[in-house]
Amino acid sequence: MINEITEYKKSRIIIGELLENFPNYIPDKYNDTIIIITDTNIKKYHGEKFPLVPIIEIGTGEKIKTQKTVDTIISKLIELGADRHSYLVGIGGGIVCDITGYVASVFMRGIRFGFVSTSLLSQVDASIGGKNGINHTGFKNMVGTFNHPDFVICDTELLATLPPDEIRNGMAEVVKHAIISDAAMLFFVKKEYENILKLSHEHISYLIQNSIRIKSSFVIADEKEVGERKKLNLGHTFGHAIEKLCNISHGSAVSVGIVEEAELSFKFGYCTRETVTKITELLRSLGLPTEISFDKDQLFNAIKKDKKQNRDKLDFIFIEDIGRVTIKQVKYAELLKHI
Ligand SMILES: NC(=O)c1ccc[n+]([C@@H]2O[C@H](COP(=O)([O-])OP(=O)(O)OC[C@H]3O[C@@H](n4cnc5c(N)ncnc54)[C@H](O)[C@@H]3O)[C@@H](O)[C@H]2O)c1
Repeated sequence: MINEITEYKKSRIIIGELLENFPNYIPDKYNDTIIIITDTNIKKYHGEKFPLVPIIEIGTGEKIKTQKTVDTIISKLIELGADRHSYLVGIGGGIVCDITGYVASVFMRGIRFGFVSTSLLSQVDASIGGKNGINHTGFKNMVGTFNHPDFVICDTELLATLPPDEIRNGMAEVVKHAIISDAAMLFFVKKEYENILKLSHEHISYLIQNSIRIKSSFVIADEKEVGERKKLNLGHTFGHAIEKLCNISHGSAVSVGIVEEAELSFKFGYCTRETVTKITELLRSLGLPTEISFDKDQLFNAIKKDKKQNRDKLDFIFIEDIGRVTIKQVKYAELLKHI
């Protein structure tokens, strides 16, 4: 069954649609100007479903989410004769979507674009919300834009080729959404995690739809992240720093980040020990890491350099209960005391 949600002004999010049908969502006048950006894995597994249009293939991994890759793509766009009427379609996980959205925002001062989202993490989170960007010297998403694609297709059939670790990574963002605003979804994950990890269509579709509904509600209320949308950064204050220092996947880093931030929520008196235990056990049952060794000072410096800093204080997301979080400014020094 195909379900559609319209996000921020005009972005159509279509869940259950197939990759091969994406041209139906592009106005006819762009028929001859579509260019696909994808990565080597997606091309290998699903390239036969692509229409006969030029393809720009990039590598994989967080290390390629850089200006260098953007420059290479732009050179290829120029070689292909792309102009302001070209239409970019990013087919891939969060990395392809983040890069495609950024290139589309800056190439020729902005051209139109859409996504076919292929990983669970990108279907429940990364392809939604209009944030695009790249890393700089290892620091996450330091350069980017807010710019919404015309459409996001979440083809759930593509998840069949996704490695199990990547399913787990996607689940970290699902758990984040549940902690922020949907206790029922957290209990659903707790009860149904075996079916979820087996990719039962019914279970996965529910999680994707619900996650998109949650994320979209924050984006519609606060597109530019000046207030409520910051809650979506739960697990990411620590998560981004851990991802940089420990060289682990985004989803795994977010999982450890959620646990660290839950511990701090307890230490600052916002939630009970029982809440921290529930969250930690759930992430563990999904096969996600909940702890990692790190150098406290290095981690602290990485957090300070993260873009969510605000002079000597940062906006920190404290968990009050499952389904309820609050944003409070905390002094770095106070945070350091409790890590
Ligand atoms: N823009 C946002 O709002 C937002 C939100 C969350 C995360 N992100 C970003 O998203 C990125 C993480 O996304 P991700 O986990 O999708 O990473 P990813 O794009 O690296 O994909 C993970 C791996 O799975 C492979 N893959 C993807 N779909 C596949 C499929 N259907 N079959 C086989 N292999 C497949 C990819 O080639 C890659 O090796 C991070 O850079 C993170 O910062 C952005």
